[in-house]
Amino acid sequence: MTARFTDQVAIVTGGGSGIGLATVLRLASEGARVVAIGLDPGRTERAAQQARGAGAPEAWGAVCDVADEATVERTVAEALRRFGRLDVVVNNAGMMLFKPLQDYTSADWQRVLGVDLMGAVHFTRLAFLHMAKGGAIVNVASVHAAMTTPLVAPYAAAKAAVLSLTRSASIEGRDKGIRANAVLPGAVDTPMLWENPNVKSGVEKIDPKDVGKPEDIAAAIAFLASDDARFVTGAALAVDGGRLAKL
Ligand SMILES: NC(=O)c1ccc[n+]([C@@H]2O[C@H](COP(=O)([O-])OP(=O)(O)OC[C@H]3O[C@@H](n4cnc5c(N)ncnc54)[C@H](O)[C@@H]3O)[C@@H](O)[C@H]2O)c1
Repeated sequence: MTARFTDQVAIVTGGGSGIGLATVLRLASEGARVVAIGLDPGRTERAAQQARGAGAPEAWGAVCDVADEATVERTVAEALRRFGRLDVVVNNAGMMLFKPLQDYTSADWQRVLGVDLMGAVHFTRLAFLHMAKGGAIVNVASVHAAMTTPLVAPYAAAKAAVLSLTRSASIEGRDKGIRANAVLPGAVDTPMLWENPNVKSGVEKIDPKDVGKPEDIAAAIAFLASDDARFVTGAALAVDGGRLAKL
């Protein structure tokens, strides 16, 4: 494995499971010092242990609700205190609710947008304030940013807005030497996929050939976060095994 992140510090939100954990381990295996952020202390601590095992010189598992701006500020400040710099932010934490459009309350919308959009907004703001030149932000959107299914309106809206945030960050990041890109995962073999009521009920049909592994998404995230992608910013990369391209 090449070591594209030696001497760099990466924050990965939702780093305790699924795509986030695969990303933590991929960045760790390439030499990054990693902060794995999540809601569950056991999972984030395990992610940090696994990251050290995978090659991270240092790793920290941090409990932080990405929707809570004050907690995000404290967590980034502590990451800077421990590791002294910030090079990569992967905004991966996400959640979904499933309801007919008319049943969503304002509180439901705020809950989903709070995590899936505002979480990325908070970390982007702090990245702009503290990131070293040459830094990179990678936002984990979804194919739902482009096409969607019934019952997930706030999630689809949040993921579409994350692409817009990515564009804005890429434009305003240019002079700061910060790149911002997004990946749009298709169906990925994580609990989030198989616990999805739309998948269980068949509303969202998943061909097993269309299901990728968390490591497939982590590889694309690592590319966009790395200097290999130094001329790539504002991009939205579908990592979906071709699912979006189908009629
Ligand atoms: N699995 C898929 O098929 C798929 C497809 C497209 C996009 N995605 C996106 O990939 C990302 C990762 O999802 P995953 O499939 O690995 O599922 P996952 O449920 O394993 O990961 C989501 C992570 O986000 C964390 N999280 C949720 N709310 C949080 C909060 N308020 N603060 C901090 N952490 C929080 C969870 O603890 C969890 O670790 C999500 O943004 C999801 O929308 C997943």
